[in-house]
Amino acid sequence: MCGIIGYIGERAAAPIILEGLGALEYRGYDSAGIAVLDEVGMPQLYKSAGKLSKLRSKLRNGLPDGNIGIGHTRWATHGGPTDFNAHPHTDGTGDILVVHNGILENYLELKQELVAKGCEFISQTDAECIPHLIESYMREGCSFEDAVRAAASRMEGANAVVVLSRKEPDKIISFKIGNAGGIVIGYGEDEMLLASDISALLPHVRDVAYLAVGEIATVTRDVVKYTRIDGASVKKKKARVSYEAMTATKGEYSHFMLKEIHEQPDAVLDTLRGRVQFDPPGITLPELAFTDEEIQKFNRAVIIGMGTSMHAGMVGRMWIESLAGMACEVDNSSEFRYRDAYMDENTLVISISQSGETADTLGAMEEAKLRGARQVTLCNYEGTQSTRIADAVLPIRAGLEISVAGTKTFVCSLVTLYALAGHLGVKRGLISRKRLKTIVQELAHLPEMIGQLISDQAQYERLALNYARRANFLFLGRGKNYPLAMEGALKLKEISYIHAEGYPAGEMKHGPISLIDRKMPVVALVPKDDLYEKMLGNVNEVKARRGSVIAVATEGDEHIGDKANDVIWVPQASANITPILNAIPMQLLAYYIAVERGCDVDMPRNLAKSVTVE
Ligand code: AGP
Repeated sequence: MCGIIGYIGERAAAPIILEGLGALEYRGYDSAGIAVLDEVGMPQLYKSAGKLSKLRSKLRNGLPDGNIGIGHTRWATHGGPTDFNAHPHTDGTGDILVVHNGILENYLELKQELVAKGCEFISQTDAECIPHLIESYMREGCSFEDAVRAAASRMEGANAVVVLSRKEPDKIISFKIGNAGGIVIGYGEDEMLLASDISALLPHVRDVAYLAVGEIATVTRDVVKYTRIDGASVKKKKARVSYEAMTATKGEYSHFMLKEIHEQPDAVLDTLRGRVQFDPPGITLPELAFTDEEIQKFNRAVIIGMGTSMHAGMVGRMWIESLAGMACEVDNSSEFRYRDAYMDENTLVISISQSGETADTLGAMEEAKLRGARQVTLCNYEGTQSTRIADAVLPIRAGLEISVAGTKTFVCSLVTLYALAGHLGVKRGLISRKRLKTIVQELAHLPEMIGQLISDQAQYERLALNYARRANFLFLGRGKNYPLAMEGALKLKEISYIHAEGYPAGEMKHGPISLIDRKMPVVALVPKDDLYEKMLGNVNEVKARRGSVIAVATEGDEHIGDKANDVIWVPQASANITPILNAIPMQLLAYYIAVERGCDVDMPRNLAKSVTVE
């Protein structure tokens, strides 16, 4: 959560910082702020509650002048989204300016100490402690760098911080304690940039380095010095970012979410490229850096993730069980990391995080590492934190996803998991050539089937007109479609603010059925698979209690039309591929209902694209 950025160089800092904040806004949009030191080192500080556009309007008569500055886009943790709580924060003298991402766990204790020393606080944030703390060490005679080091060593929790000092206006200092999202340092020509992630740096640099936990970077316009918080020096290698600058424009679409839904056929093609061969049929994952012997020895898999990524994992579990013949569990990362989960070197931990920055998943991965498990992570962005913890990385190759609601990253995670299960199954000798051929042939048609599903959107506008004013929704599914029911409910609630629950359909009669009346719409995933008759039974139970049913059913099903109020048709496919296809109606239904309700689809309230706090 929160995006932070810094610039030092020859160019005007403010336009670069504002542009970078645009790229980071997906991380939080409760407020934004910028501080630039002018040529005599005087800070010019502007902040505004609300989205970055509010800050831009505040600056419409001119940007602050100066070649060094920092910026912030906030997802509120301590204190509401107000101008006062917006970053950068300063100490009482205005000498120190700080932008912060994370949670300062001992802020109450630090604040008490600082108030006792005479510091006056003007915000309700934990972050405001940091400039006061640094300034208090400078008052005691420390240099800027030593004061930052001393302050960092007092801080607890997961925090990433970027600091400016009016007294030493030729440097920016940044440090990271705990897994609070990344700090990437970009090396330009006579300029350096720092940011929470690469997207903000890419227009300017290709060579980058990542700050590790417990490190400080002292950045001048031509040199970066890395040390540990205890003062030990650190040697750091630069990495060359291999992909082209990621562009974030909506093009012809009214929202990024709709654009990203439309990008899915191409994204899935990219996910499959080089991994699936048709003649002879094969699935290979060159990135999976485990030997055949190790793959044979795995006796168990544990899949971890949060939100939409966990829902992908719930489907993945069933593929791993049936194709790779491995016992498999799936767990919410935030639960997994705090239970005494059994793991050994024959356990394969599969983490899923499109951002690679989700604090809960990173914490769970660290825990798995401590316990000796082997790990593979599925991620959409190179170089992110999860990719540096895991033993192997499977890029999901969805391309840049801006909208907070995950769509193409969900589908590409599913496709990658399916390929992973197939690859493990092949290596473990469990998939015959004939079966492999069927799997591969169906995967070859997947982009086309997704394209077909996306092309028929008028029906969703009609459904949205009928259902957008309902207060609650139930989503029901069985087997591999139960996680899709969970995902459908999550998509709807996060962008339309309608209360929705996803259930395994068999569970309905154990409680949720009491909610059904004529006001309750039920989205039922009823593909023509082995569980079809059972799902029909559940549809009948809903209808008998006067609920309305929106069925997501297989083309050619001649019965469902008589039972459901509305039917969304999905192309015929195997039981393995159907859950991937069913993702599209879940996305489009939520999208059009949110649009009908006038919601802020791409930036729903209270959310952020990557959740870097626990
Ligand atoms: C998706 O629509 C949600 N915004 C959210 O549940 C998300 O999937 C979750 O925060 C995990 O994110 P990650 O994949 O980046 O780890």
